Amino acid sequence: MDKYAVFGNPIEHSKSPKIHSEFASQLNQQIEYSAILAPIDGFKESVEQFVARGGKGANVTVPFKEQAFALVDKLSERAKCAGAVNTIKVSTDGSLLGDNTDGIGLVNDILSNNFTLQSKRVLVIGAGGAARGALLPLLQQNPAKLTVINRTKAKAQTLRDEFAKYGDIDAYGFEHEPEIDYDIVINSTSASITGDVPPISKRFVVQCELAYDMFYSQQRTSFNDWVNSINPNATTLDGSGMLVGQAAEAFFVWRGVKPLTDNVIEKLKSGIL
Ligand code: ATR
Repeated sequence: MDKYAVFGNPIEHSKSPKIHSEFASQLNQQIEYSAILAPIDGFKESVEQFVARGGKGANVTVPFKEQAFALVDKLSERAKCAGAVNTIKVSTDGSLLGDNTDGIGLVNDILSNNFTLQSKRVLVIGAGGAARGALLPLLQQNPAKLTVINRTKAKAQTLRDEFAKYGDIDAYGFEHEPEIDYDIVINSTSASITGDVPPISKRFVVQCELAYDMFYSQQRTSFNDWVNSINPNATTLDGSGMLVGQAAEAFFVWRGVKPLTDNVIEKLKSGIL
């Protein structure tokens, strides 16, 4: 049976083995998918051992995505842009292809909830690794405008400079906000982990049709609660669809077939997975 695994530290709470097992039974694919706790200073060795045992592919999660980027032999364009690898495919010659499916997982989740990004004004809050991974797939949807706003303005500006060749993108700090309104507001900050909300004006969410918190939680997130307290009509989504979406795209990279995600997202949200 073809072997796959997710590498992280910690890893015991990872939903990936259950998600991939759902995909495998849905598509009648025979795979084995395990969770591997790599030592903090032993990610490379851990992956090498897995490949030596016949591993065909891997997912990579916190804190190893940048190390995976450095480890692989070849990078996809979206991994290059993200500066991080969350999916490794072992080629038939044993070389490692590094990909990043996080951003496309986000975009596919937005589209499958019947929103379009094309010609929309999109605000991304935060300029860390999660934002970086999302920018190329977001810009490939041809939004009218994409703005990155971040606590540390210089990080938003760095992203703007790097991604300007892919579309209309600008950058702000919290102290000097853009003047326009946005249709879609995406929170990529880690503020939700501690129940915080990034300090942006209410104005940005009064009119928005969709607010997306990239944070995955079984409960409603602090950001989504805040948005709906200001704009009850806005649809709010959290990172569960993105989590399943990135996994579906990784499954496709490895197996050439794309799982359906709705049912799996439902199971994740209701605590069955
Ligand atoms: P990740 O890989 O999850 O994106 P990261 O690279 O550490 O993690 O980035 C975290 C992001 O959340 C950053 O944009 C950070 O802002 P700074 O660049 O100014 O550090 C943002 N962030 C974290 N906590 C925040 C908070 N309480 N309010 C606003 N932004 C916050």
